Amino acid sequence: MLARVTALGSDDRKILVAAAWLHDIGYAPELAETGFHPLDGARWLRTAGFGDRLAGLVAYHSCAVFEAEERGLAAVLRSEFGDEESDLRDALWYADLTTGPDGQPMTVRERLAEIRGRYGPDSVVTRTWDRAEPHVLPVAAGVQGRMLQARHPE
Ligand SMILES: [Fe+2]
Repeated sequence: MLARVTALGSDDRKILVAAAWLHDIGYAPELAETGFHPLDGARWLRTAGFGDRLAGLVAYHSCAVFEAEERGLAAVLRSEFGDEESDLRDALWYADLTTGPDGQPMTVRERLAEIRGRYGPDSVVTRTWDRAEPHVLPVAAGVQGRMLQARHPE
């Protein structure tokens, strides 16, 4: 749905859908190297031949660099993968952060509250989102604006 209502080109739409399916693959126990799923998933995708672009999108999905900083892995993440900081990347973050654990639609604020509730106040994940929320909210607003523009072009 998101891929259809953004102004992304057809190749980018395909990459967005692939990244949406694969972004959490690093949670698979057999892929764990560092225990940080964006990095583990990106490494596996690169090694498996999915390409640097998809690997980079997975490596940096949904403000992952903030959690990498919390875990002391930011330098490793940056040395191995690039963050393309594009509309496509923002759309991937938006899709992740507007979908609940069971696939239910949520607002970004609801999703962040759900994450904080699931991990608890002392978690590295909650600390991450306390720092990342001011960064991600404008990203989400930008995606919503582009979706509106794509639906109702002037
Ligand atoms: Fe994730």
